[in-house]
Amino acid sequence: MTAVLVTGGSGRLGRALLERLAEAGHDVRATSRTARPADGGVRWTVADLTSGDGVAAAVSGVDVIVHLASAPYRGRYTLRVELDGTAALLAAAREAGVRHLVYLSIVGADQVPWGYFRTKVRAERLIQDGGVPWTIVRATQFHEFVDQALRAMAKLGLMVVDPGIPAQPVDVRDLAGHLVSLAGREPAGKIEEYGGPETLTMEEAARNWLRARRSRRPVVRVRIPGALGRAFRAGRLTTTARPAGRITWTEYLGRP
Ligand SMILES: NC(=O)c1ccc[n+]([C@@H]2O[C@H](COP(=O)([O-])OP(=O)(O)OC[C@H]3O[C@@H](n4cnc5c(N)ncnc54)[C@H](OP(=O)(O)O)[C@@H]3O)[C@@H](O)[C@H]2O)c1
Repeated sequence: MTAVLVTGGSGRLGRALLERLAEAGHDVRATSRTARPADGGVRWTVADLTSGDGVAAAVSGVDVIVHLASAPYRGRYTLRVELDGTAALLAAAREAGVRHLVYLSIVGADQVPWGYFRTKVRAERLIQDGGVPWTIVRATQFHEFVDQALRAMAKLGLMVVDPGIPAQPVDVRDLAGHLVSLAGREPAGKIEEYGGPETLTMEEAARNWLRARRSRRPVVRVRIPGALGRAFRAGRLTTTARPAGRITWTEYLGRP
């Protein structure tokens, strides 16, 4: 039985992954900053990557770590979690003899001129140089993330989209299944990509969302300016990598 620790186990991807790992019969552990009771075969440990509290204990006796903890778009705190936190996790993992660390990054991290993406690339480098055998998976945007972003926009009254941007959202259930198979393999020592089953434009994604949520918010087309807009329109958020997810955006929107 493989002991697998998931950092950020309470997050969007983390919740799906814990379920899949438990189904696959692994010894599943997860970290959170909040104490949680054992649940569905998952043993929770309190750990905070920014202070380092609880990290060594969480990593003790672990074979594989899937590192998902992150705090996007929160300024310096983002750096502390992604960089200081990843460094602290690596130090503990080296000490504990962890044999494989899987790190989640984002498709286009090295291509899109955006602060959070740059931070992900810096964290990738820490993993690559961290002395623990590794695999990095760059994933496309999660369905839940796109859903939440569109819901926030709808609350403002308008769906503002750049119609030229292709998107390839992925379902966390598919990605979680992929990560379970990676956890059972040897460390790849390379960056792999994983995306959703189809590429659609941001406008199509927004219009599908409006239909599914029975919303009549108007769609306003805006061309995102500058290098950021160019990178997005050039398809930097998409990948041709296989395997890819199977659950489509429309299927996600239609789920009960
Ligand atoms: N969302 C997307 O569309 C997307 C796309 C591609 C890649 N990714 C990457 O996939 C990973 C998971 O994303 P997600 O959207 O599932 O994350 P999420 O829902 O935002 O969850 C983030 C997790 O990080 C934990 N966390 C935050 N600060 C922490 C700290 N100081 N110490 C320890 N844990 C901390 C939180 O746990 P507690 O609050 O329980 O402590 C939470 O479980 C991230 O690395 C992200 O960059 C995301």
